[in-house]
Amino acid sequence: MRLISGKAATEDSSVDLDLRPRRLSEFIGQERIKDNLRIAIVAAQKRGESLDHVILYGSPGLGKTTLAYIIAAEMGVNIKVSSGPAIERTGDLAAILTNLHEGDILFIDEIHRLSHTVEEKLYPAMEDFAFDIFLGKGPAARDLRLNLPHFTLIGATTRLALLSPPLRDRFGVTYHLDFYDEGAIQTILERAATILKVHVESEGLVPIACRARGTPRVANRLLKRVRDYAQVMADGVVTREVAMEGLSKLEIDSVGLDDIDHKVLHTIIHKFDGGPVGLDTIAASINEDADTIMDVYEPYLLQLGFLERTPRGRVAARLAYEHLGLPYRKGVESQPGLWSQTQS
Ligand SMILES: Nc1ncnc2c1ncn2[C@@H]1O[C@H](COP(=O)(O)OP(=O)(O)OP(=O)(O)O)[C@@H](O)[C@H]1O
Ligand SMILES: [Mg+2]
Repeated sequence: MRLISGKAATEDSSVDLDLRPRRLSEFIGQERIKDNLRIAIVAAQKRGESLDHVILYGSPGLGKTTLAYIIAAEMGVNIKVSSGPAIERTGDLAAILTNLHEGDILFIDEIHRLSHTVEEKLYPAMEDFAFDIFLGKGPAARDLRLNLPHFTLIGATTRLALLSPPLRDRFGVTYHLDFYDEGAIQTILERAATILKVHVESEGLVPIACRARGTPRVANRLLKRVRDYAQVMADGVVTREVAMEGLSKLEIDSVGLDDIDHKVLHTIIHKFDGGPVGLDTIAASINEDADTIMDVYEPYLLQLGFLERTPRGRVAARLAYEHLGLPYRKGVESQPGLWSQTQS
């Protein structure tokens, strides 16, 4: 697992649990989502109803799972957890749904990976709290409608576009988690340092915050590496210098880019004249998985303004050239002279 990937790695799991905020008040950043959630939760509680079905959408490691657990805690209800790939057959879904209690939350991670048949069974469950079963075959066949308790479905996805429109329509709200700004990441790091009992002095967290790609999971992971480094090299005290030294060994640059990010940018700039070039083509030329590039690398490069998405593909932006210390040169497409040359 790459260091800067927002995706969970096995080494994260125990620490992730310790560091995971339990209540909305401990959840740092994402202010708009928190404001809306607070209102929705209080309103639902006042009416004595369950919460509307919710989609949590955003890059890996931004806090979707954390928020789902927090919603359950704030509502004071149980949460059952599953995922798109885990619910293979409609029978799996039936087993999960019929075991829910009134008001429970069902959290389905990677909900965009539900199969079509399972998804269709989910529609009546979400809308009418009913599950239809067909018994028998031929003339003796009959269908049976099971009533389900009123539950709240929370679906998490890194790819909203892959969710089928009928499924999307059945959710009451969509919350889009954005990358965190450096201030929020700094606060998350301070909280994590306290929990992990890391001794931090004189802005020791600043270099970590700059390299965390606006992602709490990456921030926590980098903090652990720096903690180790400080323990061995500096009596456990994380100062700005110690953090810089520790981070310099990790092969990520000053804004958190690693060699794959660099390869993506260099490929667009050098092989494809700055773009536009399709993501699959980029993936093929650097021998990386297109999904990983789309989930992990591209969103942050877009966020930094290093990459632009156009209808014809990805284009390297001026900021990317500046960051890489290259002279800026617009993509072929927007240079009429060059464009006509390539045409002839
Ligand atoms: N707002 C936050 N404040 C403090 N810590 C956070 C916050 N959001 C996330 N974290 C930390 O980041 C870790 C990763 O968050 P989480 O597992 O919720 O991400 P996710 O969006 O579900 O990722 P994935 O897409 O991989 O499932 C958590 O264990 C928690 O320690
Ligand atoms: Mg998750």
